[in-house]
Amino acid sequence: MSVPYSGNFSGYTATLLIVSGPLTASVITYRSSLFEYFAKHMTDNAASKSSGTPNQANVSISHVMNETRLFHPTDDFRSKAHVGSIDAYESLYAESISDTEAFWARQANEHLHWFKPFTKTLTWDEPFAKWFEDGTTNASYNCLDANIEAGLGEKVAIHFEGEPGDTRTLTYRDLHREVCRFANGLKKLGIVAGDVVSIYMPMIPELPIAMLACARIGAVHSVIFGGFSAEAIADRNHDAQAKLQITTDGGYRRGKVLKLKETVDEALEKCPTVKHCVVFRRTGSEVAMKPERDVWWHDLIADVSDDCPAAELPAESPLFILYTSGSTGKPKGILHTTAGYNLYAKRTFQWVFDHKADDIFWCTADCGWITGHSYVVYGPMSAGATQIIYEGAPNWPAENRFWDIVEKYKVTALYTAPTAIRAFIKWGDHHVDQHDLSSLRLLGSVGEGINPEAWMWYHHKIGNANCPIVDTWWQTETGGIMMSPLPGAIATKPGSCTKPLPGIVPRILDDSIDHVGVDEGGMLCIEKPWPGMLRGIWRDEKRFKEQYWSKVPGMYLTGDNARCDSDGYFWIMGRIDDVINVSGHRLSTIEVESALVSHPAVAEAAAVGRPDSLKGQAIAVFVTLKDGVAGESLRDELRKHVRKEIGALAQPDDIRFTSSLPKTRSGKIMRRLLRDIAAGKENVGDTTTLEDYSILAKLRSDDES
Ligand code: WTA
Repeated sequence: MSVPYSGNFSGYTATLLIVSGPLTASVITYRSSLFEYFAKHMTDNAASKSSGTPNQANVSISHVMNETRLFHPTDDFRSKAHVGSIDAYESLYAESISDTEAFWARQANEHLHWFKPFTKTLTWDEPFAKWFEDGTTNASYNCLDANIEAGLGEKVAIHFEGEPGDTRTLTYRDLHREVCRFANGLKKLGIVAGDVVSIYMPMIPELPIAMLACARIGAVHSVIFGGFSAEAIADRNHDAQAKLQITTDGGYRRGKVLKLKETVDEALEKCPTVKHCVVFRRTGSEVAMKPERDVWWHDLIADVSDDCPAAELPAESPLFILYTSGSTGKPKGILHTTAGYNLYAKRTFQWVFDHKADDIFWCTADCGWITGHSYVVYGPMSAGATQIIYEGAPNWPAENRFWDIVEKYKVTALYTAPTAIRAFIKWGDHHVDQHDLSSLRLLGSVGEGINPEAWMWYHHKIGNANCPIVDTWWQTETGGIMMSPLPGAIATKPGSCTKPLPGIVPRILDDSIDHVGVDEGGMLCIEKPWPGMLRGIWRDEKRFKEQYWSKVPGMYLTGDNARCDSDGYFWIMGRIDDVINVSGHRLSTIEVESALVSHPAVAEAAAVGRPDSLKGQAIAVFVTLKDGVAGESLRDELRKHVRKEIGALAQPDDIRFTSSLPKTRSGKIMRRLLRDIAAGKENVGDTTTLEDYSILAKLRSDDES
């Protein structure tokens, strides 16, 4: 196999790239009805739009990046795929939007267990959706009992790898037993359907077990990521009115024991609604147990039965609340309900990851995030998948830990985040080179835009140019993946999440709520309700309506900007609030960042606007270099590089080098904080979701670099 990739980072302007090898790249030549549908819709609307100067309110966001590489799935992948051609995708999609309710009704009947079948598919009283409302089901039943009934009781559900190297294997039958036992434990503590249970645990099997035990009896789980502070736990528990806390004595992270129980103790001082705290023993470290309130997990379940029949729950019973990491403002408790969410997580998992019975799936997300809810717990488990759960950090004991795990368990599908991919690039290829990754057949990305050159690295270095990459765009609010390549059907373009999944109708609008034209950026909205959509913000209907349903009548406002190219491919351009306005041209952060990341010395970059008396805003960038590369002399070179890649308009005015960037705990760059720093503000806004506080101080002291 020959791959014309030798540290050549100038793919932006190439018009045609021929890759000889398992994946073939070419310019797009097909143009089918669906592509025309999107392209036409957008052009029609663009034609009816008034032309104007860049300062008019309805101006779209300029797009300066021109990525033209295209990668087709191999014939081998295609021939085995569930959806194995563009025609198959298009007919599935056409069916899904011509009669959306009939489509989802068929999916729900075929793919969920119903104690009592539903007769009503959708009640849509905008913005309130009810899916399958008169049916009864249970998400824990769909994830466990249904698999055992299908003969998968002895199939491995979870290969667990602890950070210190301890391992456990749980079959579906084992998982069923553990979930039933813990559900019986919850009942002993007086938990009933509708009660909120707060879960604050490391990424160990008991975390999904606790979630599924709640689902089994109709309790509503609220998982709080195990890295959050006592204050964050208290806020969320208070907002949710949680009745019970579940935690562990500790968890392992980079060789140290995180004292989760201590943090919980501090939080529970401020949570009068929480009556009990269940503690799982993970590390064996000393913890204080408060009499009456605290109980050990193993004591709670010592004498309970192995059986706990799943409660027959109305389809719209709340399944969980998940507080969004919130890069701005007070965290919101996003509410998902049972049947619609469960169906959407299961079907999107099967479509996007082209799931096969013998796959070893590894989603590296923690259950503290929506990705862990949908693609560790409810999606893979309802599909009877075998998966890896890893407790710890990617660089412990060394930077090759992920590759060690892929090799050891022969992982076939790996789903991770751009922040991790950029860290691997920074750490150097030698950590990857020592491992046999040939078991991989599919790669996925989620959480942020993936810069095209990070995509290329993932494709070549991890996928050996032989694995489709599914760049999946979605949100906590959407419940599951909304846009992504179906890997056997849709050719990929680095940096594009490609096309909508069945049943999803994305639209792009400008500030005047006009549809934009081809390749023009604007607000990304979703036109039709879908089963996985959020049902509300917990106890805050006003905010739910205002935030998602007030700006654009009849559509869900995602809060992201996007453009759609002439092939009907979608490109996410970042959050609406992050747009940089240079002399009336509105630029997307990801395009400037991707141009920087295409320089061989750059590992990661963040671009923000800062006030400029002449241009309105100037572009300030924060750059992290690859390990072993020295920075200062590169400043001019990087400026020229961006100018060459995407033009003079997007050339950065300030370039600052930094060893790391401020990120949320789920790994997203916090551009809002960088904006304040670039503007020279002493006090930056809300930092409660910031992962590493020391970075702010470092960035300020680097100010003059
Ligand atoms: C961003 C994570 C570009 C986007 C599942 C979205 C992405 C927010 C992508 C939701 C992607 C997620 N390409 N941007 N493939 N995936 N995002 O709620 O801004 O943690 O609105 O859900 O992440 O983040 P959340």
